[in-house]
Amino acid sequence: MRHSLFITVTAVSVLLLAGCGASDEYNIIDPGTNPSPSEMLDADVAEALAMAGITGVTRPQADSDELVALGEALFFDKILSGNTNISCATCHHPVAGTADGLPVSIGEGGTGLGANRAQGAGALIPRNAPHVFNGGVVGVDSMFWDSRVTRDPVTGELDTPEPDLNGLAPVLADYAAQLTSALAAQAMFPVTSHEEMRGQPLSNPIADALSNQEVWELLMERLVGTNDGMTGGIAEYRALFSAAFPAVVNFDDFNFGHAARAIAAFERTRWTAIDTPFDRYLGGSLGALSDAAKRGAILFTGKAACAQCHGGPLLSDFQHHGVAVPQVGPGKNAPGEDLGLSLESGQVADDYKFRTPQLRNVALTGPWMHDGAFTSLEATVRHHLDPLSSLANYDAGQLPAPFDATVDLDAGRNAARAAALSPLLQSPVGLSDAEFSDLMSFLHALTDPASLNQLPQIPDTVPSGLPVKD
Ligand code: HEC
Ligand code: HEC
Repeated sequence: MRHSLFITVTAVSVLLLAGCGASDEYNIIDPGTNPSPSEMLDADVAEALAMAGITGVTRPQADSDELVALGEALFFDKILSGNTNISCATCHHPVAGTADGLPVSIGEGGTGLGANRAQGAGALIPRNAPHVFNGGVVGVDSMFWDSRVTRDPVTGELDTPEPDLNGLAPVLADYAAQLTSALAAQAMFPVTSHEEMRGQPLSNPIADALSNQEVWELLMERLVGTNDGMTGGIAEYRALFSAAFPAVVNFDDFNFGHAARAIAAFERTRWTAIDTPFDRYLGGSLGALSDAAKRGAILFTGKAACAQCHGGPLLSDFQHHGVAVPQVGPGKNAPGEDLGLSLESGQVADDYKFRTPQLRNVALTGPWMHDGAFTSLEATVRHHLDPLSSLANYDAGQLPAPFDATVDLDAGRNAARAAALSPLLQSPVGLSDAEFSDLMSFLHALTDPASLNQLPQIPDTVPSGLPVKD
């Protein structure tokens, strides 16, 4: 009798240890006993998350090392810009949480990296550079603050600013065939923007190309040359492209879609960030979250109502909402004005709507919002709790020069921004200081520790020989 009891107890503790690590306890509320406060809290969190459809994220399928190596080289290489003075990494840099740390980006012609980037001859870009974390996980089918690049995950159909890539039978079918994710489709476009990478008219032949297709062809000439690689190009890129796409035997058969696909493979391999304390908790390690973060999760889905829009596995509904964000930057459709989604949809009802961002690693990716209007995560969250008073009382002093001078103070346009506020955010949410701090703890528990030290991730050199660490 005694002996068998001993065996049972041992078996149970082995199960506990195997299931969730030595320091954790399973959330098994024994019928017949009173649940402890921590068991009650975990049960409440589980219920809250289930209501909001918040689950873990599946890691994307691995890409070949060769494809990732090509993508990494391209991402860090200024050879992709018309005037060889800016790379993807300039605005999406490991040291700045895969963004640039600026309210809105500074385009080609600027100098330096991250928050130290100086405007020089560069244009201010109308919007904030989003981070690239988790841009390649399943469920992310749209890109940009206004989703102007989308890919249907079932049919593969693209909808992008280049009509020849779009639809079920695109004109540029051989390009579109390579664009196997929204992330890959996105990578086609920074090189076509005069302000971002292409360069101003008359400054280089790519800037003066007559179509996007010509831009992409000229870039491929730079990378792999013409005449099956016999004329021009860079030998190291030919080797990288061949290794990444062994089935392509003639260099003339490569198109910029191959480059974009490789860039996306690099981005999602390096920057899938789903091993956060919150994800570990979702995976069963109940000790991975502090009680404060657990209470924050309940507020996030409950009283603070964040999950109305930041729900689901990726903490985004990928829809667009008016959040009454103050306007910073040069403006998109007119000076001091960025109408957001309506510029794409043509619907007045979409004025000032922007896409709900994912929130993993959000503590690392400031400034926040589509124009970087808020330079602290706290201020970003407080804005959501009472957007209209935040818009009315916005402090431009939080922005560094030259961005502070670009805040739009026009009363009429601010009234229109306020009028476009989502019905979901109309009633101010009053949180106590303790509740606010719990909510912040939850947001901080969304940081993947592996994303904290990104310095080793910068290559020493790139195939073009252009500088990488300016
Ligand atoms: C001059 C700065 C700059 C450069 C260079 C740049 N980007 Fe961006 N990137 C931005 C800005 C700004 C946005 C947001 C634009 C918008 O939404 O209208 C953006 C958006 C994106 C997005 C969408 C993220 C999301 O969540 O929707 C991805 C991915 C991305 N860039 C990758 C790249 C790649 C790959 C390159 C190089 C081929 C590149 N960027 C070059 C500034 C830049
Ligand atoms: C009505 C839908 C909605 C609700 C509710 C909502 N958000 Fe947002 N959130 C958005 C949208 C849309 C944006 C981007 C707005 C923009 O840039 O114009 C955003 C931006 C953010 C950002 C900035 C992310 C970045 O990468 O710049 C954070 C942080 C954030 N929300 C947290 C919260 C929290 C916390 C709550 C609850 C207190 C909340 N949100 C409630 C829709 C919503």
